[in-house]
Parts: sequence; structure tokens; C-alpha cells
Amino acid sequence: MTLKDLQTYSYVPYSETPGISVVRSQGDGFFPGVRIENASFPLTINSLQSALFNCISEGEKPKAAYINPEQSCNIEFWKSEYGLWIYDLEELDESKFTPILMQIKSDQTPKKLHELLGQAQPIYSDFPVSALLETEQGFISGVNIECSEWSYGLCAERVALSKALAYGIETFKAIHIHTRDGEFSSPCGACRQVLVEHMKDQQVHLYHADGTNSQHFTSDLLPYSFHSSKLKKK
Ligand code: THU
Repeated sequence: MTLKDLQTYSYVPYSETPGISVVRSQGDGFFPGVRIENASFPLTINSLQSALFNCISEGEKPKAAYINPEQSCNIEFWKSEYGLWIYDLEELDESKFTPILMQIKSDQTPKKLHELLGQAQPIYSDFPVSALLETEQGFISGVNIECSEWSYGLCAERVALSKALAYGIETFKAIHIHTRDGEFSSPCGACRQVLVEHMKDQQVHLYHADGTNSQHFTSDLLPYSFHSSKLKKK
């Protein structure tokens, strides 16, 4: 993957203003991040958060971020949150930028969801959630990540989606979601809004804390959702 490729993976149908970031982990892995807009403004994910949560969801610790300062949001917050070194994207040695995406086999779904709970970072809620996004290229994992500012956290579903998009994967067959606790595992309203934008009529498999599971369609989870063919520029 080149930085040019990464630029095209941004999901920016509304502003047409791409944004990319790359995070280097303490283990010297490289994690891409892209700007992901949403018809509902505040649900937009900026590229630095996308790259950071990609790294953390893989169980790694972020060390440095390569950003375009004009495109990234809340740089000072993320810098102090993770003790990051901040560099300009132009300083990234592209020959070292070889991001690897972990593949998960389909027959491992419930077991993997259970294992992934250990990678969640529910520092306030103690409510771990895991997700596996089913794609043509395999299963992409996500866990919920909370940080010192509650509003900057992301749910497992959106971490998985943001990760897939940052690797250029943009068609999704289904999503599998698991919570350790609670009566009924169910995506929050914000996740429903984001999921319906990227997978309009796809299946949502919920694996509840009591060991039971249920299947739903994204469109049923958010009936009469806001959309318009007039809205997107592309
Ligand atoms: N959470 C998810 O990861 N997915 C959902 O759809 C529901 C909520 C997380 C967010 C937060 O870290 C914790 O669960 C409590 O809200």
C-alpha cells in the first residue's frame, strides 16, 4: 500500500476532502487511518483517530503518528493521551510502510469474538465489546476503545469498519458483534447510523452475553434512516 493508495481509501463523499494518517507502534508496525465522513456530521471519524484505534485494536501501543497537520483534529489531545511523537506525513519513509492486516477464519467467529474482548479498552465502562466485519477479504476485527475524554472513544463496530476502510476494503457482507455483559448485545444508535451508510441491507449477527444469538438486518435496526441520492457528490 502506498500513501497515494491510502488517500483514495478516505470515505469523503460529502466534502471530497480526503484525510490520511499513519501510526507507528512501539513494536514498529505501521497502521493506516483514513477520514470517514458520515451524513450525520459528528459521527465523522478523523484519520488520526482511525489510525490510532487501528493500532490499539490490534493489541499494539502507538508510539508515533505521521499526519498532515491541516487535516488532523485534536492533535494535542492525542499527543498527550498516548505520549505520541508527531511527524509530518512527508517524513514517513514509504519503503517501511507495509501495513499488515490480520486475517481471521470464518469458522472461528464466536471463539474469536470471545478472545477479542481481551483487547477492548473500556477504561471507564468496564463493558468490553468485540466485532468482526465479514468481507470478501476475510474478517476484520474491532473492539471498543475508550480514552480519557469520553466523547473521543469509539465502539467496536466503528473500529472494525474504520480499519477495513483504511485497508481499502469497502464492501461488507455482515457484521458479528459480542458483548461480555448485559441483557442483549445491540449496536448503539451511532453505530446503526454508520453501519447503515456502509452496509444498507446486510446481516448483523449478535452474540449475547448469555450465550444465545440473534440475526437482524441493518435496515431493520434503523428504519426510515436518513439518506438521499442528492446528498453524496460521488
Ligand atoms: N459499545 C460498543 O462498543 N458498541 C455498541 O454498539 C454499544 C456500546 C461500547 C462503547 C463503550 O465503550 C461501552 O460499550 C459502553 O457504552
